[in-house]
This record gives sequence, structure tokens and C-alpha cells, in this order.
Amino acid sequence: MHLLIPAAGSGKRMGADGNKLLLPLLDHSIMGWTLKAAVAANSIEWIGIICQAMDEPVFQETVTQLKIDKPVSFIRGGDTRQASVSHGLQALPEDAKQVLIHDGARCLATPALFDRCTAAFATCKGFIAAVPVKDTIKQVNTFGIIEATPNRSHLWAAQTPQGFDVALLKEAHQKGQTQGWSVTDDAALFEKCGFNVHIVEGEETNLKVTTPMDLAIAEFILLQRL
Ligand code: CTP
Ligand code: MG
Repeated sequence: MHLLIPAAGSGKRMGADGNKLLLPLLDHSIMGWTLKAAVAANSIEWIGIICQAMDEPVFQETVTQLKIDKPVSFIRGGDTRQASVSHGLQALPEDAKQVLIHDGARCLATPALFDRCTAAFATCKGFIAAVPVKDTIKQVNTFGIIEATPNRSHLWAAQTPQGFDVALLKEAHQKGQTQGWSVTDDAALFEKCGFNVHIVEGEETNLKVTTPMDLAIAEFILLQRL
């Protein structure tokens, strides 16, 4: 399975100096943990790291340090996650018919989750890892007034990996570009095209490291795994 890792963000909400994925988390960087899990997943055969030019040398160093024995390609990122993934799709080897996309910031995803996602291609052409939401979610208008309370049993929190048929996802990205759709994950593009996106059981610990508090929680979870 081919895996694309969007890692070209700037981590504004983390409030760090540069890309949050370079921040230390115990004995690796955030990106180091993400790569370690991806490499440990037997089903992953190729990894494309999508990053900004200035971060590439550090990521390269991480790849060397981890002695990654799978082919790794570096792909230039874009201004948005959507643009970054789009670049990644263009850079996939010709023989890649299916792809997993996994945020560099989700550094706690386990190898088992990657393998479970790969296996999901046996039954569908589009899926995301997700978990049922625990909070009651409110839809609120611009005046701060609640408009709706969706039934929680129908609500899932989207995670990555997300997996797609490459030809269909390329079509969805192309359409998104011409129609000016701006989305935060690839599933949203797939959905807007009318393609089915299935749910694969995610992991409660598979958080996206976004704020300094997430970093503290991630450290706590990793320490439990020792
Ligand atoms: N990402 C990317 N290219 C971008 C923006 C984001 O590849 N132009 C990646 C990030 O590196 C991250 C993933 O998409 O691995 C999810 O994005 P997010 O958590 O929002 O990270 P940042 O955009 O870096 O953070 P922020 O939104 O706080 O600036
Ligand atoms: Mg972002």
C-alpha cells in the first residue's frame, strides 16, 4: 500500500516557531513517531512525505535515524492541506491504484490501524478511520445561537488514515479545484462528488496534535505504551 503523509503545515495553533511536526515528543519528533508507526505497519510499502522545502532536511534526517527500509519520496507541499494532498497524488508512482493518506500530526495511530485501513480496500473505494463522538455536538449560527442538535448516534469524529481509489480521488481533487471547494479532509471531496465513504473503526488515542495541550496528552499516552 502507498501512503501519503501531509506534513507541510506551519502549526499556527501550536504557537511554535516553525512546523509543529518537528517538535520533540519524548525521544522522537512528532513526525518521527508518525513515521515509526507507518514503517511498522506490514501493509505499507511506500511512503510519500509531503513537506515544505525548508523542513525537508530535518525529515530526511529522521528517515535516516529511523533506518527506514521502505522507499520514501519527498513531495513539495502546498499552501493548504488540500493543495498538499493534491501534489502528493500527482507524485504517486504509476502503479499506485489505492492510497492511504495520514496526517503527520496524528503521531499516535498504531501500525494495526494502518493495516486495518489497508484491509478495508477489499470492500470499498473510499473510507476514513473514525470514532463515535463522546460530546453532544451543537450546530451554532454566526450570532452564537444554537440551530440544531444532531442525533449523537449518527455523529463520528473523522481521523486519518483515510483511504481512496487513486483515480476517483484524483477526479475529486480536480473537481474541487474547478468548483472552488475548500475542505479539511479528502473524504469531504469524495462525498461532494457523490462517492461513498465508509467508516473504519479508528482509535480513541489517535488524536491530532494541534495545541500544546495535545502534545502533553500525546506524551502521556506514549508513556502508557512503554
Ligand atoms: N498540512 C499540509 N499542508 C498544509 C497544511 C497542513 O500538509 N499546507 C498537514 C499538516 O502538516 C498536518 C496535517 O496537514 O500534518 C493536518 O493539519 P493541521 O493539524 O491543521 O496542521 P497545521 O496546518 O500545521 O496546523 P495549524 O492549522 O494550527 O496551522
Ligand atoms: Mg491546518
